[in-house]
Amino acid sequence: MGGAVFKHAVFGQPIAHSLSPRIHSAFAAQFGIAIEYRAIEAGVETFANELAAFAHAGGSGANVTLPLKQIAVAQCAQVTERATRSGSVNTLTWRNGEWFGDTTDGVGFVRDLEGRYGCVLAGRHTLLLGAGGAARAVACALIDAGVDSLTIANRTHERAAELATAFIGSGDVRVCRWNEISATGALDLVVNAISAGHHDGAQFPRLGGLASNAVCYDLSYGVAAQAFLAWANAAGAARVFDGLGMLVEQAAESFSIWHGRKPETQAIFDDLRREQVERSRQTPG
Ligand code: ATR
Repeated sequence: MGGAVFKHAVFGQPIAHSLSPRIHSAFAAQFGIAIEYRAIEAGVETFANELAAFAHAGGSGANVTLPLKQIAVAQCAQVTERATRSGSVNTLTWRNGEWFGDTTDGVGFVRDLEGRYGCVLAGRHTLLLGAGGAARAVACALIDAGVDSLTIANRTHERAAELATAFIGSGDVRVCRWNEISATGALDLVVNAISAGHHDGAQFPRLGGLASNAVCYDLSYGVAAQAFLAWANAAGAARVFDGLGMLVEQAAESFSIWHGRKPETQAIFDDLRREQVERSRQTPG
């Protein structure tokens, strides 16, 4: 295998500003593994063709992001149990002429909160905002991590109810109407999985109360997370985090699926955070 270059890519739309090529290149450098990691623009209509072309060109591992995580399941000959439960795939591995699918989002989320920030998830009374693909993956991770209760609220209530139904028998999982969140009682973990932060004018619901140790976490990062984090601070959260660390940790898990090596993640996390802070200083507000 001397001199082999592993071909990787991330597919999504938009994808031009993806940090994945940079994160994976930093991981590969730790082990002296030669990789080529491209960002390939693909929407729901073009993804199957783009993925096939990538495999044909020797692609051995791919990530997928918005809006492809759910439809990527159909491109896989096999998927892991955690991907089946999450209904989404973000990591594809080419094995014996077919794609094998997995999701590393849940692991990335838990490693960031528990590993990086030392926030134990077990026993927490949790509110999950959103019921899309990202919310589903995180709901699985929260249940597996042993949260005491999980309340799901979504702008479109039916989607929250549908998501909760998927977890019947998995513990205390409830749904709550968007405009009735103030009645949920004291919460000590609020996770934002709605994509509204990506748009202007995000409206977050009024909360009943946060416990004194409450942690609020947005799955997105940078500017996209600002509205939720400001709202969480105003609501009295003890600690607030964006999802930059989750991005790095889910990438590390993908990398170890492809290469069987577990990269160190703190250095690239620190670099990305420093740059993000510098950017926000240059463009305040
Ligand atoms: P993802 O894979 O990122 O979860 P998705 O499946 O399209 O993307 O889900 C987007 C989530 O953000 C949904 O929970 C969506 O709520 P609806 O089911 O009601 O559409 C939520 N969302 C998007 N824009 C929102 C807004 N302006 N206010 C509240 N929720 C919003």
